Amino acid sequence: MKGLDTHVKYVLPLTHPLLAVENISITLSGLKILDDVSIGVPEGAVTGLIGPNGAGKTTVFNIMSGFLTADEGNVRFDGKKLKHIKTHHLTKLGISRTLQGVGLFASLTALENVMLGGSSRVKSGIVADSFGAPWADSAQNKLRGEALEVMTEFGIADAADRYPGELPYPVQKRVAIARSLISDPKVLLLDEPAGGISAADMAELGRMIRSWTPERTVLLVEHHMELVMEVCDLIWVLDAGKVIASGTPEEVRTNPAVLAAYLGDDGGEH
Ligand SMILES: Nc1ncnc2c1ncn2[C@@H]1O[C@H](COP(=O)(O)OP(=O)(O)OP(=O)(O)O)[C@@H](O)[C@H]1O
Ligand SMILES: [Mg+2]
Repeated sequence: MKGLDTHVKYVLPLTHPLLAVENISITLSGLKILDDVSIGVPEGAVTGLIGPNGAGKTTVFNIMSGFLTADEGNVRFDGKKLKHIKTHHLTKLGISRTLQGVGLFASLTALENVMLGGSSRVKSGIVADSFGAPWADSAQNKLRGEALEVMTEFGIADAADRYPGELPYPVQKRVAIARSLISDPKVLLLDEPAGGISAADMAELGRMIRSWTPERTVLLVEHHMELVMEVCDLIWVLDAGKVIASGTPEEVRTNPAVLAAYLGDDGGEH
């Protein structure tokens, strides 16, 4: 991953983040999971969100994408407060996310899973309803073509008609990323895209993520520090529901609070 020298140095606090959570707190099952967390994501950059297991990273993603609503605080996109976030709002704003793990539908082929990522563009309704039916609708045919194109770019075209359960884990991860890209998102929230993949695949993933900027904005949750340090312009560090550090990869790498948080962890990897 050497040679990714396009990094931009951001000065905190950010003046106009594209996406941000401001002072969010949430209690789940009586436990305070996030406590007054503020995180900004600058446009056209790769921002990292790291921290030991259970720090609250996925919970931040869930709040940004409306899976959960914070008890306090705001989510802002381009300066505007987002309230009661629904999937179609995210699509309209151009925000796409991948789930921790792979999150593919086991009963749909890889191609159908990728198509689902672009299904909101097809007016005739939920694409899944039409699976098995003849591809009468030209919009769906177009989507199918685009899905195959993205899969070809990702080197997974030969997996198109296979079910997720039949595919090796790294291929499933690529299918999941292809699904999030087919909607041509402006913002990508990636939750541990490198989990369970080889070093070579990780290097390729790093190059791919950098190649999306500055056209796209990326927020990356990842435990693989080498990848995070190589691809991120700016990093936020969470520990036990609080932001404990933020800054450039170099600043974060050498921050004593970050080192202490990771030393107290069980190693981070799943
Ligand atoms: N619905 C829930 N009810 C109760 N506790 C929850 C719920 N969801 C998450 N938690 C807890 O909140 C904490 C933060 O979880 P979260 O999944 O956000 O962490 P994470 O930083 O993504 O961790 P990992 O690196 O392991 O994926 C954990 O202690 C988790 O057990
Ligand atoms: Mg998580």
